[in-house]
Amino acid sequence: MSWTIHDAEDQTGRIAIITGANIGLGFDTALELARKNCHVVLACRNLVKSEHAKQEILRQLPAALIECIALDLNSLKSVRKFVDTYSKKHDTLDLLINNAGIMMPPYSLSEDGFESQLATNYLGHFALTGLLLPLLAKTPTSRVVSLSSLAHKWVGFRFEDPHFKRGYSKRSAYGQSKLACLMFAYELDRRLRAAGLNTYSVAAHPGVSATNLAQNFPKILTALFPLVGQSSAAGALPTLYAALGEDIQGGDYCGPRSLGEMRGAPVKVGSNRASRNEADAKRLWEMSENMTGVRYLG
Ligand SMILES: NC(=O)c1ccc[n+]([C@@H]2O[C@H](COP(=O)([O-])OP(=O)(O)OC[C@H]3O[C@@H](n4cnc5c(N)ncnc54)[C@H](OP(=O)(O)O)[C@@H]3O)[C@@H](O)[C@H]2O)c1
Repeated sequence: MSWTIHDAEDQTGRIAIITGANIGLGFDTALELARKNCHVVLACRNLVKSEHAKQEILRQLPAALIECIALDLNSLKSVRKFVDTYSKKHDTLDLLINNAGIMMPPYSLSEDGFESQLATNYLGHFALTGLLLPLLAKTPTSRVVSLSSLAHKWVGFRFEDPHFKRGYSKRSAYGQSKLACLMFAYELDRRLRAAGLNTYSVAAHPGVSATNLAQNFPKILTALFPLVGQSSAAGALPTLYAALGEDIQGGDYCGPRSLGEMRGAPVKVGSNRASRNEADAKRLWEMSENMTGVRYLG
């Protein structure tokens, strides 16, 4: 029997932050958490879009507790401002869903000088998690969910040139960022255990889900998505399973069960050897601390 959202307990009294929650998988994750009576914070870069998402959730669930706080993961200044705003309003955090992402844009650097996919998909979330750790650590049974992808298998991590100063490949940069998210999820869990904290770090991927993410993909490929992939609502289920599943342990990775993990019911899945390389994960952690200036669980 696979996990379904009906297996999840009521979330009354709990609070979740979801990055990139105005659309796609983040929106569907927020909607289902709100349906379970979780207080949901939509952490989005565009407040007009996030207010629109809030109104859509309230239209479907008029009693939902939904809040919008601005967060641009492409900017460490914005990440710090988000944490400051959140911490002034709340002193606990049950679920941090590191969902926001971009895929295969033209080359650009963030205001901090990071390749944009590494900045948005990974480094912004690394900093966000570290700055929110004090709240997570004091909230019993809290979890951090990091979104990876089948694309984590596309490449290794380019320690010598992580920002693609030489020879940008938008595909490799996306694969690298999603590998980093998965290495981070596992390393974070190891460090949480070593520190004796009860927070779990887990990872999830949605297979192939019909969202806006593929806007930079060749049209011919996106036309195939409905044939092999699944809806955004179905794609959000591995994230929800990772966040709420009672049989989930720290360090688990969840994804769809069928068609090479491209679609289907959420189950625990495996990942490649590079994602599980502990020496590389430690190196990535230290590199991320130096890049972001956010140091934790050292
Ligand atoms: N869809 C798939 O098949 C698939 C497969 C594997 C993994 N994933 C992962 O799933 C996650 C969600 O993707 P999705 O498919 O739902 O894509 P999506 O529909 O394009 O949604 C992405 C979300 O991330 C937000 N975002 C982008 N840049 C941001 C920034 N700098 N700061 C804050 N938020 C930002 C977007 O905001 P705006 O609306 O303002 O752009 C949007 O809310 C990503 O991490 C992606 O890598 C998706």
